[in-house]
Amino acid sequence: MSNRIGVLGASGYVGGAVVRALRSNGYDVRPAAGSSHDAYPTVDVRDRGAVESFVDGLDAVVNTAGLVGVGACDSQPDLAFEVNATGAANVAWACQQRQVPLVHLSSVAAIGDPPNRPIAATSPRNPTTTYGRTKLLGERAVRSLTGDRTPSISLCVTNVYGTSDDASEGGNSVVDFFVDRGCAGEPLPVHRPGTQERDLVHVRDVAEAIVAALDSVDAGYSESRSHVLGSGTAYSVLELAGLVASELRTATGRSPGIELHENPNADSSVIEQFEIDTRPLESDLGFTPDRELREWIATEIDRRMN
Ligand SMILES: NC(=O)c1ccc[n+]([C@@H]2O[C@H](COP(=O)([O-])OP(=O)(O)OC[C@H]3O[C@@H](n4cnc5c(N)ncnc54)[C@H](OP(=O)(O)O)[C@@H]3O)[C@@H](O)[C@H]2O)c1
Repeated sequence: MSNRIGVLGASGYVGGAVVRALRSNGYDVRPAAGSSHDAYPTVDVRDRGAVESFVDGLDAVVNTAGLVGVGACDSQPDLAFEVNATGAANVAWACQQRQVPLVHLSSVAAIGDPPNRPIAATSPRNPTTTYGRTKLLGERAVRSLTGDRTPSISLCVTNVYGTSDDASEGGNSVVDFFVDRGCAGEPLPVHRPGTQERDLVHVRDVAEAIVAALDSVDAGYSESRSHVLGSGTAYSVLELAGLVASELRTATGRSPGIELHENPNADSSVIEQFEIDTRPLESDLGFTPDRELREWIATEIDRRMN
């Protein structure tokens, strides 16, 4: 097993979960943050020299660094390009030069809204946002630079939810938001039409998939692979609000109202049907996300309300 694993973006939501999962699997983890941090050194992926020094002496790298989210990337498109595209290229370049295997975090936003379902890593790419376009550039850089020379896996992750342990913060997913709002006794706002779907995957499943990907890149494949990583179950946003409302009613006897609002990002396209193909990930990595969303909602509400 490769032992010294560098984690870029370790101060982030997914990166933090990856550090915990790797440590609990016995890896020697070398985390790095994007900006000043209490415990971790800073490695800015835009700085190729800093990335190369970081990669020196490692057995594998996990790149969870990114400028994340549609709004953040729309308001800072230059930064989105520098971090998500050039930054990913810098990491892939440093890994390729040193023959260090790489697991890179991409997003289904890099696939966007392809013409057919299920959505797979092989689907025609049609990103509809700055976030998606810059993540696609990053993923292509990883594929082009590592190619058949250095093993790499890019994971196009759906929407991540949940906490990696009781002390860590939750995610920015719509279901984390609904649980926050509902537990605070506030109504659940749903953007119209409400039928738009989400595939939600638990952050610990994402971290465990990354551990499986590291084991796989270590197994001697010298090729670049991409997979979609999600739970394989899609819910409409209205269904998600309904699930949270129903679990709150069971736990407290009270149910928050569900309010329909106009979508403030009406110009960004809405993905109506979010069916993904999980089979390639399962057959290649031998890993299936298995945390159940409804169970998490019930447990999380119980934890917060009692
Ligand atoms: N969360 C999701 O639902 C989701 C879904 C699909 C894909 N992803 C992908 O998963 C990865 C992690 O997302 P996340 O949700 O964990 O985001 P996050 O919480 O915002 O974390 C982003 C991380 O990237 C670091 N970073 C930002 N700019 C950097 C730079 N120039 N150099 C080095 N590091 C930099 C941040 O460091 P500092 O905070 O220390 O500056 C932070 O550690 C991203 O690639 C994202 O595209 C996430």
